[in-house]
Amino acid sequence: MTDSWSNSAHNASHEFGIDLHLDRKGPGLRTGLIEALREAVRTGRLTPGTRLPPSRSLAADLGIARNTVADAYAELVAEGWLVAKQGSGTRVAQRAEPRKTSPAGPPANLARSRATYSMLTGTPNLAEFPRKQWLTAARRAVTAAPHEAFGIGDALGRMELRTVLADYLARARGVYAAPERVVICSGFRHGLTLMAQVLRARQVRAVSVESYGLDIYRDLLTSTGLRVPPLYVDEHGTRTEDLAGMRGVGAVLMTPAHQFPTGIALRPDRRAVAVDWARSTGGLILEDDYDGEFRYDRQPVGALQGLDPERVVYLGTSSKSLAPGLRLAWMVLPEDLVPEIAAAKGHADWMSSSLEQLTLAEFIASGSYDRHVRAMRLRYRRRRDQLVAALARTAPSVHVTGMAAGLHALLELPRGTERSVVQAAARRGLAVEGMSAFRYETADSGWRLPEQDALVVNYASPSDSAWAGALDALCAVMP
Ligand SMILES: Cc1ncc(COP(=O)(O)O)c(C=O)c1O
Repeated sequence: MTDSWSNSAHNASHEFGIDLHLDRKGPGLRTGLIEALREAVRTGRLTPGTRLPPSRSLAADLGIARNTVADAYAELVAEGWLVAKQGSGTRVAQRAEPRKTSPAGPPANLARSRATYSMLTGTPNLAEFPRKQWLTAARRAVTAAPHEAFGIGDALGRMELRTVLADYLARARGVYAAPERVVICSGFRHGLTLMAQVLRARQVRAVSVESYGLDIYRDLLTSTGLRVPPLYVDEHGTRTEDLAGMRGVGAVLMTPAHQFPTGIALRPDRRAVAVDWARSTGGLILEDDYDGEFRYDRQPVGALQGLDPERVVYLGTSSKSLAPGLRLAWMVLPEDLVPEIAAAKGHADWMSSSLEQLTLAEFIASGSYDRHVRAMRLRYRRRRDQLVAALARTAPSVHVTGMAAGLHALLELPRGTERSVVQAAARRGLAVEGMSAFRYETADSGWRLPEQDALVVNYASPSDSAWAGALDALCAVMP
């Protein structure tokens, strides 16, 4: 007989607060319960560390004697499926292996997370998320929100947030930003997707991208049918002067304030050349300002958008300044693009959560965003200084390049060593990327990128407790 047990319909376990669904197996109550729990652990439905309901409440829920549950738990503890600890109840044992669902092994991101330390790019220090201040802002925002905020809102975003962001971006990044031009989206990636759709609808065939950058963004553009010819990056930033010779390019995606990943600020004359190209051809510059808040040596490089708000689409994100998990980003658009983006946005993924938007608006308006960014700037700067000092001590031939900004640094390596250094780091439990992971060179380009062996090191993301270990592992594998 197979039957289903579920304690969710009863309230006895509310003191504990987990719903447990068990497929009852076997003849007796005790045997049936043991088999059902074993099966749930074996298949991974109950994951390692999961706390089981106290025997009293599970017994009440299932309508069986408490001793039956206690006996079943004891049996499974003896078999190693569960562990019981005084004061913290009974949990699924850590070494209980869930059944493999895919013979191909874990997806890449899970494999990555096996490393003890990670200096992979893309994440700020998640341990530093300002939980308390965020909660304060959320409490205030939800308390003050009008009823209408709980309904489906404007696809362009909450006006409260667009207004606060317009002020902030003008003040901190030199962006020309009237609130009506600010559009909230779910990450830079979402903003770029919308832009790609609008460009395709405008019959644009190609968007030039930097010859070093993230392949996910190139793939995103090509998946909408756009060609992505490379624009080369040299020691002064992206060679915007080459745009003039490129056929059919309707837009260019760039990271002018801090080229990703080389860490170069676009030289002023090249900024001007990019804007001139856009004006004379009717092209657009898509400015990815992913970490503009973090500059350590002098004043931040202002946004390119300020030079011509009608030709530059500014894209900012909270992914580096707060957390990528928020999925909150913003675009500041040329006026004529607003209706087209609004139309593209309305089709799918209509809007980011109003409550999160209102919380971010409150977080910025109350000064918490500035305080957080300033505090993180100090911490990241200290990290960068420690990285530079540790390398100077242990690997003086390795140069740290890229400006003192952002969350990552480039470590130049001797020719031909990048691959073996990345592999040696992996063997020491440190996940880190080589420069070649970001290189984009198409066969038909006719312009060869100089070979550059380097590591792209995210010094911001390790938690404080992991930092010393990560730094040691990094220094140990330097040539
Ligand atoms: C170059 C670059 N642009 C943009 C982003 C932000 O992406 P999103 O806002 O989709 O998290 C990142 C984050 O890793 C980045 O590295």
